[in-house]
Amino acid sequence: MSGLCAIILAAGKGVRMKSSVAKVLHPVLGRPMVSWPVAAAREAGAARVVVVVGHQGDEVAKAVGGEGIEFAGQPEQRGTADAVAKSAPALEGFAGTALILCGDVPLLTPATLSALLAAHRERGALATVLTMVPPDPTGYGRVVADEAGRPVAIVEEKDADAATRALSEVNTGTYAVELPWLWEAIGGIGSDNAQGEFYLTDIIAAAAKAGRSAMVRLADPDEAMGINSREQLSLASLAMRARINRKWMAGGVTLEDPATTWIEPGVLLSPDVTLGPNVRLEGATKIAPGCRIDAGAIIKDSTLEEGAHVKPYCVLNEAYMGPGSDAGPFAHLRPGAELMASSRVGNFVEVKKARLGVGAKANHLTYLGDAEIGEKTNVGAGTITCNYDGANKFRTVIGKRAFIGSNTALVAPVRVGDDAVVAAGSTVTADVPDGALGVGRSRQKNIEGWKGRTPTGRKE
Ligand code: UD1
Ligand code: CA
Repeated sequence: MSGLCAIILAAGKGVRMKSSVAKVLHPVLGRPMVSWPVAAAREAGAARVVVVVGHQGDEVAKAVGGEGIEFAGQPEQRGTADAVAKSAPALEGFAGTALILCGDVPLLTPATLSALLAAHRERGALATVLTMVPPDPTGYGRVVADEAGRPVAIVEEKDADAATRALSEVNTGTYAVELPWLWEAIGGIGSDNAQGEFYLTDIIAAAAKAGRSAMVRLADPDEAMGINSREQLSLASLAMRARINRKWMAGGVTLEDPATTWIEPGVLLSPDVTLGPNVRLEGATKIAPGCRIDAGAIIKDSTLEEGAHVKPYCVLNEAYMGPGSDAGPFAHLRPGAELMASSRVGNFVEVKKARLGVGAKANHLTYLGDAEIGEKTNVGAGTITCNYDGANKFRTVIGKRAFIGSNTALVAPVRVGDDAVVAAGSTVTADVPDGALGVGRSRQKNIEGWKGRTPTGRKE
């Protein structure tokens, strides 16, 4: 087998996160950290990706598993070369190039990986390292190069003398290497160093000995930012957010306050979408042209058709909004909520597994669950579908052009016909036929001469 594969190192615990959750599982913009390098490697053309896991390996595998993604276990963290060695059984017989990436470096772009691969191939190298010149090189391995600009060795800070520490170019921990040469090179690596670890960085010296080492310098050192702490985690999310926001603005989306807009990577937007401040779009949300999402809305795994309008502070989850429909302010559209074209729900309306037909309205303080509302039907303020009897759920079906008076309780299973009217304040326990008026409340009676009594009827 030949071509391109990737090895992602993700066995470390990440002590500085002070967390019971493995570092690489902490989310960066809604996705586990390690899934970013996995996705970047895939986009750069890696057909196979082997993730080396250790701490909470099963959880990591569950979080990033997918087609073409394999896992190798490293039970004891004995260094980066040992971690890479653990991927050897999975990659047995593979001849070609491998990208080696760190699971805690989420910001590297597929474009950078492609540039690394292009240089690696062009120079016919056995190993090519991605380097950078950060504002402060402390903690990184220093890259020692010859006059021709070829790397001769990488020296870890703990092993470096003063002259080596003074070098400004460092190792990002990202490499392109040839297989099966890598296995031979790793076999020659020892652990005679300050940390007693097997350093993957020693493959550069091995490739240099064969006259086939190379390096590529990253223009923007922020891309190789490694995450070791919660603060760095927040900075990575921030950088990723800014990157995605820029992409959408370039694609014709208006962000009224980009600093507070959160758009996850799986979201699809369209030209002439406008997002207000503090909008959060998550999961596989899809928004068509001309939609407006006002301040504070949180939308997850939902689809909005052309011209839909989400007013301030709505929460949508697995919902559908048809063309020209609108919701809110303060509406809650839960899984299975479907607002067909030009329908609307207003403030403090909750919808779950319910469809509002074309032009239907529920403007105020209503709960519609397990329901079907016909086109052009008006649902009055305070209407509730009583869909749950404590054990099972039942459906409410309302026909077209019906009028449900305010404060109606619809006790499901129940059906209200086309053009039917339900009187305000009704508790509807039986079907209302087409065109009928349903009244489900006691008739009002007035008692004259009440003055002079207390509200409970006692004479004063
Ligand atoms: C490593 C490099 C250093 C480079 C830096 C860039 C080595 C010896 N040093 O140092 O030159 O400047 O990255 O960030 O490679 N891991 C395992 N198993 C292990 C050890 C590490 O899976 O046994 C994983 C970690 O989870 C992490 C990655 O490898 O994702 C890097 O390991 P880390 O210990 O952070 O290496 P550094 O000391 O930062
Ligand atoms: Ca590190």
